[in-house]
Amino acid sequence: MMGECVWRRVVSLSLRLMLVIPAGLPVRSQGDAQSDNTVMDNITVRQGETVFLSCSQGDVVTHTAWLNRSSILYAGEDKWSVDPRVSLVTLNRDEFTIKIENIDLSDEGLYVCAVQTSSKPRTTSVHIIVQVPPKIVNFSNSLVVNEGSNVTLMCLANGKPEPAISWKMLSPKANDDIDSEDEYFEIPSISRHRAGMYECTAANDIAIDTKTVNLLVNYPPTMFEGRDVGVTLGHSGVLRCEADAVPEADFEWYRDDRRIFNGFDGIEIEDIGSTSKLTFHNVSEADYGNYTCVAINKLGSANTSIILYEVIEPTSSTLLQEMTSSVLEHTATEYNQLREGPGAVQDGNSGTAGTYTPVCLLLIFALQLLLKF
Ligand SMILES: *[C@@H]1O[C@H](CO)[C@@H](O)[C@H](O)[C@H]1NC(C)=O
Ligand SMILES: *[C@@H]1O[C@H](CO)[C@@H](O)[C@H](O)[C@H]1NC(C)=O
Ligand SMILES: *[C@@H]1O[C@H](CO)[C@@H](O)[C@H](O)[C@H]1NC(C)=O
Ligand SMILES: *[C@@H]1O[C@H](CO)[C@@H](O)[C@H](O)[C@H]1NC(C)=O
Ligand SMILES: *[C@@H]1O[C@H](CO)[C@@H](O)[C@H](O)[C@H]1NC(C)=O
Ligand SMILES: *[C@@H]1O[C@H](CO)[C@@H](O)[C@H](O)[C@H]1NC(C)=O
Ligand SMILES: *[C@@H]1O[C@H](CO)[C@@H](O)[C@H](O)[C@H]1NC(C)=O
Repeated sequence: MMGECVWRRVVSLSLRLMLVIPAGLPVRSQGDAQSDNTVMDNITVRQGETVFLSCSQGDVVTHTAWLNRSSILYAGEDKWSVDPRVSLVTLNRDEFTIKIENIDLSDEGLYVCAVQTSSKPRTTSVHIIVQVPPKIVNFSNSLVVNEGSNVTLMCLANGKPEPAISWKMLSPKANDDIDSEDEYFEIPSISRHRAGMYECTAANDIAIDTKTVNLLVNYPPTMFEGRDVGVTLGHSGVLRCEADAVPEADFEWYRDDRRIFNGFDGIEIEDIGSTSKLTFHNVSEADYGNYTCVAINKLGSANTSIILYEVIEPTSSTLLQEMTSSVLEHTATEYNQLREGPGAVQDGNSGTAGTYTPVCLLLIFALQLLLKF
């Protein structure tokens, strides 16, 4: 009973000391020869690790305890704490060591070892500082926005020490111009070129955490200029149009003001990604004309016109032109080979120089051809 009473005084004394001693300052009480108080270096640990708390004992120790703030964890061999993570490691004449497993942020704070000897009480205090790896907790999920809108990407992270945030654009290509070091990454009036993959990194002394977000930017179609197409009567022909749009455009084809549908009059319409193809399998006289391709998505539309024009079937005269030019080339080559020998290397000018003679031959040849028709 007597011992219990003294013990309570020790505990309450150490509690008073804890409140008085400024944390972090190595303090030795002066004047009071009855007590001896030590402040140990801070212990810095990572969340989840195990901490050992040790204080020296000495001769004639009557009572000893480890305290967390104002609550006793261990009083001698007796465990007062209900926390299963706290356990006794060593208690003998030299040292009193306990351990705390799986340290968490809430364990951060001042721990005091109070020792009562036959004459004077003594405390040893230590500050446990818990570090936590960064974790991104609030993050913009994949975003779909319209071109021109103001976009804010968010990346909020926990961690101790406070993590530093940085943003960068990963794709289409890493772009240094648009890095940011803010939790809220603002992109005013976004353009289509800023669509892509962005990465947020949260970093502190102990680790980093990263997350990526895909930013999709919708924009209305823009059309590439259509190219007019010439087709011979009875042949097949293809009109093509291409539009750049997100989401991908749907296409409509018009002949003047009249909409054309797939399978209509031997016409086939096929959309492949960003292009549309209008195919005539057998072009008739009535097919020649002005066609309009319209690309539409939810943000707008664009159009381009393509003329399907007639190419006259090769007649005797056009045929003659084709033939003479091919004969011309052919004869010129043969002539050069004759002149320079089969192994000769031809220089760029020899072809021109050598065409004079074959031109005469050619005229005769052409005349013969003409007579046949
Ligand atoms: C120990 O930690 C406390 C609380 O964070 C701080 O005030 C003090 O300066 C630290 N002392 C040392 C020696 O680092
Ligand atoms: C220390 O005390 C704090 C505050 O009461 C508590 O949250 C924490 O769990 C305690 N830690 C240990 C190891 O007892
Ligand atoms: C973080 O996300 C949660 C759930 O989405 C939300 O309720 C909370 O408001 C967010 N916090 C901040 C600071 O935006
Ligand atoms: C974007 O922000 C600017 C400046 O803050 C503002 O003037 C504009 O109205 C905003 N645009 C939209 C689409 O909210
Ligand atoms: C194309 O159409 C014409 C007229 O209808 C027909 O005479 C011809 O046989 C067709 N050609 C082909 C390859 O189908
Ligand atoms: C084709 O039609 C479009 C739309 O009707 C028109 O703007 C364009 O001028 C026409 N092209 C020709 C060559 O007539
Ligand atoms: C084609 O575009 C012009 C202007 O860009 C527009 O005036 C016209 O109505 C469009 N035509 C169609 C068929 O959408």
